[in-house]
Amino acid sequence: MEYNTVLLTRSEEDVKKAADIIKNGGVVGMPTETVYGLAANALDPKAVEKIFQAKGRPMDNPLIVHIADKADMEKLAEDIPDAAYKLAEKFWPGPLTMVLKKKSIVPDVTSGGLDTVGIRLPVHHTARELISECGVPVAAPSANLSGSPSPTAAEHVMNDMKGRIPAVVDGGMCPVGIESTVVCFEDGAVKILRPGFISGEDFTRAGFQVVYAKGITEELDAGEKPLSPGMKYKHYSPKANVTIVSGTLEQFTAYVKEHNGKNTYSMIFDDDILSFPYRYMTYGNTVQEQARMLFHVLREMDIVGAEQVFVRCPVTVGAGLAVYNRLLRAAAFEVVRL
Ligand code: TXA
Ligand code: MG
Repeated sequence: MEYNTVLLTRSEEDVKKAADIIKNGGVVGMPTETVYGLAANALDPKAVEKIFQAKGRPMDNPLIVHIADKADMEKLAEDIPDAAYKLAEKFWPGPLTMVLKKKSIVPDVTSGGLDTVGIRLPVHHTARELISECGVPVAAPSANLSGSPSPTAAEHVMNDMKGRIPAVVDGGMCPVGIESTVVCFEDGAVKILRPGFISGEDFTRAGFQVVYAKGITEELDAGEKPLSPGMKYKHYSPKANVTIVSGTLEQFTAYVKEHNGKNTYSMIFDDDILSFPYRYMTYGNTVQEQARMLFHVLREMDIVGAEQVFVRCPVTVGAGLAVYNRLLRAAAFEVVRL
């Protein structure tokens, strides 16, 4: 079906319109603090199927279910470990998704056929208002076409979803900019399946034991099954070939000089610009800025027709690990170490 996609504001009236679409089994572009999501009634298999169609997403990749109230976790999940309640207390509302044993109320299509469900309580005001107004939990993957960089502005969602969904709610630029941290629980430890803005160090500081799933910073072996199905797909890629280059600014500059070709761009830190003589876009200095800018800049690279992008390697501690993880996928794990 071809839609005449409307851009709604975050006014109460428009949020009600968006909620009506969702209550009637439709899909709406929804702002969150991390990235925009494609939201539909998580408990309605037909509505959830429309998300997969709009995105072109493989059916075995489960969706995150968004709630507006902590108590709703127990409506969706059972055998919830103590650690999950503690994490919810400390980090919800916020960019954290917890994978828990699902109750049968969650349709198989929502959980990608798994017996678990990822649950998240976002902090973004409009997201919470919209979910509350719907009165049902809302399934929402990132609102990009499958394989493209996640959308961090309503305009990005429009670019990818125009004609494919009835409406997008414009909630402004996403303040976090990368997707939520996805965790499950294993023998009392918090296991990070997808790194995010809330980092392993944050969990450690909060008194949790932390383990990392394989596939976060290294490629899985052929045929190896990741714990988070999304990790097996090439992701976040602009059309250009992306290469991460790790080294000092001097080394980076010398490398670009040697490999500079037609439509080659660099993604550098703000502080680099005074001594960098080639075509560039910047993605901030701090980890927070880099997270917020990353997908925006990757999309800009498409707009200018970049064919090769050299990226200065971010620090990989704290939330930097999440920035590095997304870049690795955009680069199909191509890293040059100088
Ligand atoms: O910040 C976010 O998480 C955004 C916003 C919209 O909330 N959503 C998002 O959804 O990034 P998506 O579908 O693009 O990524 C969800 C990731 C995928 O890698 C998926 O495989 C994993 O979470 N996931 C979801 N449910 C899971 C489950 N039951 N078990 C393991 N991994 C799960
Ligand atoms: Mg995604």
